[in-house]
Order: sequence, then C-alpha cells, then structure tokens
Amino acid sequence: MKNLPVGILDSGVGGLTALSPMQEILPDESVIYFGDSLRMPYGNRTKEEIVFYAQKMIDYLENKGVKAILLACNTISSHIDSLHSNVKLFSIVQAGVEEVKQSVKGDSLGIIATCATVNSGVYENALSEVCPDMKVTLNSSISLPKIIDSQMENEPLLRENIKECIEPIVTKDPAIKDLVLGCSHFPIIKNEINGLYPKLNLIDPAIRQVKMLKEYLDANELNNKSKKTITLYTTAETYEFAAAIKRLKLEIDTLMKVELI
Ligand code: DGL
Repeated sequence: MKNLPVGILDSGVGGLTALSPMQEILPDESVIYFGDSLRMPYGNRTKEEIVFYAQKMIDYLENKGVKAILLACNTISSHIDSLHSNVKLFSIVQAGVEEVKQSVKGDSLGIIATCATVNSGVYENALSEVCPDMKVTLNSSISLPKIIDSQMENEPLLRENIKECIEPIVTKDPAIKDLVLGCSHFPIIKNEINGLYPKLNLIDPAIRQVKMLKEYLDANELNNKSKKTITLYTTAETYEFAAAIKRLKLEIDTLMKVELI
C-alpha cells in the first residue's frame, strides 16, 4: 500500500496547484493526476453532473491503484458526501476552512469560487461552525476557470474577469484583507490577482490540503519508499496543460490524453 501513488483529481488543470505543494511537502510521493478538461467547467454544471463525473474519476484512480485521493477541485469537494471511495478522500474545502481558522486574524473574509461552489453554501456553512463571528462575502465567476484552463495567456481577458469577480467583494466589505481562492484554478493566476489587488492576502487551500495528507501518511506509515513517478491524465488535448505546468514549474514524467467513460 505505502508504495502506491497519491491520486489527485480536478475538473481540469486546477488541481496542479495541489501537485505544486506536493513537490515541496511530500517530494518522495508518486502521483497520478486526473483532469477532466474536456467536460470542464464543472462550476456551471448541476450537482448530479458534478457527482456523476467526479465518481468516474475516483473509480478511474482507484482502478489504477492509489492510497489516498486529493479532491483538488472545490466544486467537487462541495459534494464529497455524495461520493464514495475505498481510500481516504481529502476535501479541499475542508482544508480551506481549516486554513482560515488557523491563519485569518480579522473578522472579514472574501471567497471567490465557481457558481456551483458558491450556490452549494459549503464554505459559509462550514465557516459558521468554526468562525461564527466572521463576516464572509463570496462571489463567483462563470468564465474565469475556463479561461485559465485554455486561454491563460490572454492577459486583458484575464484581468477583466479577475476584476469582475473580486471588485464586488471588496466594494461590499472594504474591511476584507484575506481572500480565499476557493477554486483550484485561481492560484495559477495568483500573480495577476496580486498585481490588481496588492493589499489582499491570498489563501490557497491546496497547501493546507497537502499538509493534511502528510499528517495522514505519516500517522499510518504510508510514506512511499520506492522510486517516484508523476503521471498526468487529461480528457482534453495535452497541450492545454503546458501553460499551467510551466507557470507552476512542475516536474512531470508522463502526460497523456485518455477517455473517461
Ligand atoms: N477546479 C474547480 C474548483 O476548484 C472549478 C473549475 C470548473 O468550473 O471546472 O472549483
């Protein structure tokens, strides 16, 4: 079991933002990544569709043989209770909430995510339990995840959509200093967001998620002792992954297009 890879899944390239801290926090672990770029954006889909496709990705990774799965996608993690797996599933939303609990000092918080994540109410519900006095302001973007997945080098389009997503939040509550990037695609454009909103502290839940995975592997003596390999599967064209891999400076062994049926 210990020498099996860790599975990471996402609707597209977004989960590469979890692979990035993996390479620092758990540098010896093998990874099998699955990104369903063909069917993304999941954030504009119904709960039934999200659960149906996410379950297929979980089954795919389990068939390959993995010892744990990071649900790197917030939209998918919003419905973790409807998913089943024989190995432990790690929700990025739970990691995001834990990070807020541990690191945010103020009473105001902004969250940007997909429409499906915002509409599910998952962040507000979880935060109301652990930080009941926190004023949480959310906004979603219909188009930003898709632009990041396949048109990231279109800078003007990126900037326009970042502003459209964040401006209503900081206008509604000018006290906001911390912003949760509640969509795994958003940390890929951290520099662009920082450029437009330099005073905001951006929270990437993937870092906490990988730390939680490390705690689990350490506690269960599941750390890899064999040679590590990093394999990426996508349902769309492999070149769509190139920009994100380059930006995140990832080291990959194999990148392959596959079908998810
Ligand atoms: N990666 C997904 C997330 O973290 C969203 C992208 C999509 O809409 O497919 O929510």
